[in-house]
Amino acid sequence: MPDTQHMVTRAAPAIADLNGRHDLYGLVHKALRMAQCQMLVRLGNFDYVHGNVSGLVSDLRGLLVLGAGHIGHEEAHIHGALEAKAPGGTAVLDAQHGGHRAQFAAIEALLGQLEMAEASARAAIGRRLYLSYTRFVAEDFEHMLEEETVTAPLLWSLFDDDGLRAIEGAIVGSLPPEKVIQFMGLMIPAANRDERFRLLAGMKAKAPKEAFTAVLEMAARPTLPPEDMADLERRLALSQVVPN
Ligand SMILES: [Fe+2]
Repeated sequence: MPDTQHMVTRAAPAIADLNGRHDLYGLVHKALRMAQCQMLVRLGNFDYVHGNVSGLVSDLRGLLVLGAGHIGHEEAHIHGALEAKAPGGTAVLDAQHGGHRAQFAAIEALLGQLEMAEASARAAIGRRLYLSYTRFVAEDFEHMLEEETVTAPLLWSLFDDDGLRAIEGAIVGSLPPEKVIQFMGLMIPAANRDERFRLLAGMKAKAPKEAFTAVLEMAARPTLPPEDMADLERRLALSQVVPN
């Protein structure tokens, strides 16, 4: 019998409505999916013979560092809290994170090869890199879906929204300002207009004015189409109330 287990399509997960609950994963996962999709297309249409290899390598390396950081934040701030209330509740996620770390190392090895290779050898390495990255993205999409369809409802059953916001606050509070700008620079364009407004309105109400201005000018304005930026500024000017 051939081993077809890995090719069998899994049943579609039930997708619970948010019902007004705080969505710990939603925006950061949208950000990662957007950045990963853009990188996947770039790796696919990149000219490995004549293109700026060092620029590609450094951007992909930066994205891997961001992804590794995200995994670390989840483990440090979400998994511990979850395990304390639901022992074994993060076993699947921990195993998937372990798999991602192995894939990061394999992709990093290919980046090292690409940097050192003669132009004539780069196309073959680039193809290996592209396919390796597709595998990582495919697995990470499944993993993030697991978090948003299985883990999130578990978190909602165990924590109230203040508890979830405290976890999120601890993650954001652990980041240096430049990392906050980097994550925000992906989350803001990946979010829809309403999500963006609520994210920025929360910052406007709670964060120091300089931090809010830095996010607006360094993460929102450079990444949004002018009409989306205008919509955001209009909503923020009208808003004196934190939506949630
Ligand atoms: Fe995760």
